[in-house]
Amino acid sequence: MLHSQCWAELYAGVLPPDVLAELSPAVMAQLWQRFVTRGEEYAQYVAEVDGDVVGFVGFGPGRDEGYAEVVEVYFCYVAPGFQRSGIGSELLAAETDATYLWISESNRAAHRFYRRNKFGPDSRRRIGSLFGTDLPEIRMSR
Ligand SMILES: CC(C)(COP(=O)(O)OP(=O)(O)OC[C@H]1O[C@@H](n2cnc3c(N)ncnc32)[C@H](O)[C@@H]1OP(=O)(O)O)[C@@H](O)C(=O)NCCC(=O)NCCS
Repeated sequence: MLHSQCWAELYAGVLPPDVLAELSPAVMAQLWQRFVTRGEEYAQYVAEVDGDVVGFVGFGPGRDEGYAEVVEVYFCYVAPGFQRSGIGSELLAAETDATYLWISESNRAAHRFYRRNKFGPDSRRRIGSLFGTDLPEIRMSR
């Protein structure tokens, strides 16, 4: 549920409405099922406040060629009402050896967040794809 809300918020204005409409909790549940059954080198953590999940992060082997030995941050989300109170940084700190991540070029808030956490743009760029829509991305590493 939280994942679909976060995506809907994050990609409103970036993804076409028909794609946004498909980001249902059921689709997210399928994605999560795939993540959690991938093996022990993959790690997901959630942040809870009063028993509710308000944030989550996913790590695993680097997916870029030659990066399988280092840890990539796959995603990190904090629910809108709980952002900017340190939860994202705490989630990110769950894997101290996390080395790099890809992030949408337009997501300035997240760039700032990762900079705060010692990641910096490393000059690699790519055109990512989310549900068939092209999204320019930058890589940040530390
Ligand atoms: C990016 C995100 C994970 C950060 O988590 P968080 O709990 O809000 O971050 P923290 O409280 O640990 O760190 C806050 C710092 O991050 C940066 N930051 C976070 N949100 C920001 C925003 N909306 N605008 C500007 N800077 C922001 C700032 O440097 C901020 O420090 P400040 O409040 O002193 O200026 C969270 O805001 C989020 O889920 N955003 C939407 C989804 C997203 O973009 N995820 C990343 C893609 S995988």
